[in-house]
Formats: sequence, structure tokens, C-alpha cells
Amino acid sequence: MPTQSTVILGTGSYAPERILTNEDLSKMVDTSDEWIRARSGIRERRIAGPEEATSDLAVEAARRALQDSGVAPGEIDLIVLATVTPDYPMPSTSCIVQHKLGIPTTAACFDINAACSGFIYALDTGCAMLSSGRYKKALIIGAEKLSSVVDWQDRGTCMLFGDGAGAVVVGLSETAGVGLIGTKLGALGEDTDLLFIPAGGSRMPTSAESIARGDQFIKMKGKEVFKLAVRVMEEAARDILEQHGLAAHQIDLVIPHQANLRIIDAIAQYLELPVERFFVNVDRYGNTSAASIPIAMDEARRSGRIKKGDLTLLVAFGAGLTYGSALIRW
Ligand code: COA
Repeated sequence: MPTQSTVILGTGSYAPERILTNEDLSKMVDTSDEWIRARSGIRERRIAGPEEATSDLAVEAARRALQDSGVAPGEIDLIVLATVTPDYPMPSTSCIVQHKLGIPTTAACFDINAACSGFIYALDTGCAMLSSGRYKKALIIGAEKLSSVVDWQDRGTCMLFGDGAGAVVVGLSETAGVGLIGTKLGALGEDTDLLFIPAGGSRMPTSAESIARGDQFIKMKGKEVFKLAVRVMEEAARDILEQHGLAAHQIDLVIPHQANLRIIDAIAQYLELPVERFFVNVDRYGNTSAASIPIAMDEARRSGRIKKGDLTLLVAFGAGLTYGSALIRW
């Protein structure tokens, strides 16, 4: 039996309505629009309301992806949802999304935590499951309500993150050489403490003391993360290109994880690609972790930056530290 390709049939994204600008932030912590823009390229981010959880953002993005693909909820037999801000520690947010969308109870549903590389991990996992022949159509989602784990008194982190969701519908195609043509995943487990949430897991269950210390919030060593991010993203991009006998200039569009414009600029420089070849929306959303790449991919498609036949490179890094890259032929 010839191997079938796994192709993206539709994309969708959703960001909450409320915009928090740098100017707004400067009234909350000792910072300025100028500082944030110069260090990160971020101008504003979206913040979900108290009544909105990660699954609500995910459902909206998934609805749009389903509509774009023409696939009915009843046809989905797999949901893989990447997040570090699930609705609950248990059960998985994917089950909540399944129910809200009316996806059949015969669908397999689970979450993946690979932080900001989560969408690429989820895409690789979902596509591998489709390629096994045991599943036909998958919803792959990246969704986050990072505002719920950000310390709004820590000026070193609070300006970076935002809320949102992106989704793709993936199916099988008989056409060879299209869709997901390769991935490269990895992790630097020795660097876990550079970016993490100390409390709320089995190592440090939430307690009055942990809350008093603010250990339920993101802790980050920004400078170290920055340096590693540039190195691992460049390597992940180079490795996948080499694996597939491609040169960087053959990529029509790079969709990098949207963490910091300076990180994106540095990677463009190292790969010797013009920065115009990179899709950038970090200025409008900040870092939405697992949602960042699918939101960017959806915007790139809908704005005509991706055309049939184009080759797109996805590349990400995140807490873990995880990293991943993927090549997609449209
Ligand atoms: N406004 C004003 N000043 C701030 C500030 C803010 N929001 N945040 C930090 N500062 C201060 C620091 O306190 C420090 O002051 P000091 O020198 O008196 O101690 C100074 O600005 C420089 O801070 P530094 O951390 O050296 O800045 P930086 O150039 O490394 O930029 C980041 C900070 C966070 C923007 C940058 O390190 C970064 O983006 N790192 C990667 C983070 C990331 O991508 N995380 C997600 C991974 S998926």
C-alpha cells in the first residue's frame, strides 16, 4: 500500500477581544512601551476574560479550522491539544473541547505539554497517528491562557505573554510529497529550571506557603533562555533542512515561535535569510506559547503569505527546554 501524506485541510485561530497595550502595562509595573518594544518587539497582547478558559479559546479556533476545511465535527476521530495552561490539571482540555464541539465519543482525545514547542509536537504526533492508518481526520490545537500563570507584578516576564488559540484540521492524501514532509523534535532536559512554574505539581503541591511566595507563576531566566533559544532554533532549522537536502533559501516562509522579535531577527541572520521571509505577529500577541505557531500559520494563510506549492518551515523552542521544527509543502 503506498504511503499516504498527511495534509492540512484547514486552519483557524482565535484571540480574546481584550487588548493589553504596553502603555497599560506601564501603569501596572515599572516599565515603558519603549523598553518593551526595544527588547522584545511586542506592542500589545490579548487577555482572556475571567469567564474564558483555555478550552473556550481552543473551541473557537477549532470551529474556524473546521469551517475552513469543510470537515464536519462528526468526521474527527482524534484531537491532540498542546497547552501548558489546561482548564484543569485533570482531565485533559481536549476532552472538554471534544464535548463542546460535538465530536464523537469514539474520537481519541489527549493533551500534550511541550510548552512553546507544543504545537509542533502535537502536529507530529497527530500526523504519525493518521499515518498509522488507524485514524482518518485530526484536530491539532495549540491553546493557552497564559495570563492565568503570569505574575503581574514581575516586570521581567509579564510583558512577554498573551492568550490565544490556533488549530488545524489534518487528513490523509494520496498525493505524494505534500503536507507534513518532516519533523525534528528534541529537548534539553538539563535546563528545566530556566523557565518553569515551581508549584502546583507533584514536586510542590499548591499550599498557602507556595502561594505566598508566588510559586504558582512563571519563573524565567530571560537572558539564558534568549541565548539557548537562538542556538536551538537555528540548529533545529538547519537539521531539518539538511535531513531533506534543502537549502534555507528554498523555504518560502518561515513561521517561527513568536517569543521575541530579536530572537527572530537573530535566526534570520544566522540562516542568512531576509527577515521578510519570516512571518511575524509577536507585536500584536506577544508569546502565546503553544498557540503562537498555529495562530501565525492561520494568519499567514488567510493573508495570502502561503500559496499552493509553497514550502513552509515551522521552528520553535520552549520550556523544557523543548525544541522542534517541521516542513510543510502546501
Ligand atoms: N521594563 C523595564 N526594565 C526591565 C523590564 C521591563 N519590563 N524587565 C527587566 N527590566 C530591567 C531588568 O531589571 C534589568 O535591570 P538591571 O540591569 O538593573 O538588573 C534590565 O532591564 C536588563 O534586563 P535583562 O534581563 O538583561 O534584559 P534583556 O535584554 O535580556 O531582555 C527579555 C529581557 C526578557 C526581553 C529577554 O531576556 C528575553 O526575551 N529572553 C527570552 C525570553 C523568552 O523568550 N521566553 C519564552 C521562551 S518560550
